[in-house]
Amino acid sequence: MSTKPATTSVAGYRRNDRGTQPDLLYPPYASTVKRAPSHPLVLLPASLSEVTGPVFGFDVLKANDHDLTKQHAGDPIGERIVVSGRVLDANGRPVINTLVEVWQANAAGRYPHQRDQHNAPTDPNFTGAGRTQTDSEGRYRFVTIRPGEYPWRNHYNAWRPAHIHFSLFGPAFSTRLVTQMYFPGDPLLDYDPMVTSIPDERARRRLVSVFDWETTIPEQALGYRFDIILRGRDETPMENYLPARS
Ligand SMILES: [Fe+2]
Repeated sequence: MSTKPATTSVAGYRRNDRGTQPDLLYPPYASTVKRAPSHPLVLLPASLSEVTGPVFGFDVLKANDHDLTKQHAGDPIGERIVVSGRVLDANGRPVINTLVEVWQANAAGRYPHQRDQHNAPTDPNFTGAGRTQTDSEGRYRFVTIRPGEYPWRNHYNAWRPAHIHFSLFGPAFSTRLVTQMYFPGDPLLDYDPMVTSIPDERARRRLVSVFDWETTIPEQALGYRFDIILRGRDETPMENYLPARS
């Protein structure tokens, strides 16, 4: 009989395939030069503290948290869209009842934050933050406004592609994911160093949503599908970092 404590025999997670996550040092993305680790990362063995974790906060969800167009007295300016998808684990199984949070710029490409001084209008009817939980099949759904592109000062004439930020905790600390969803056909994708810092082309494409007739609502809103995979071979890439206006 083994005398090993249980915490030393925990099944870990598969390491990421090379090139499927952003390079931590990627000089075209200027701020990585200052913040990237200068020493090789230390890989720690999995223990209970990585493969288990607290489950966050469904009790604080409110009725319109998933509908960013209904959080104020009036309708926000912009094109209504539906963003939905499934959250899956490394083996393709649904991650159920898990918290999904989003935040984004308004239709003009402006965040309602004092550090965002982009010369574009704010929208009193749009905060740009939402949350929901997945259902029993791992599905989530948001109604929102298509976010605008916005400039950032990474390099001359730098513009971020339209994007929605996502944050998920999943069932454990090791499944924590912060990432960004993009829109199909956006011409800025090929010029965005946050996207191109991911070497693997297939991994980059996992961040681009798919136009979806199934969730498009006649006379109301276009639908985009964005499936999110926590860990494994097809894992959704993690964001490199969270700068003030990313
Ligand atoms: Fe952003």
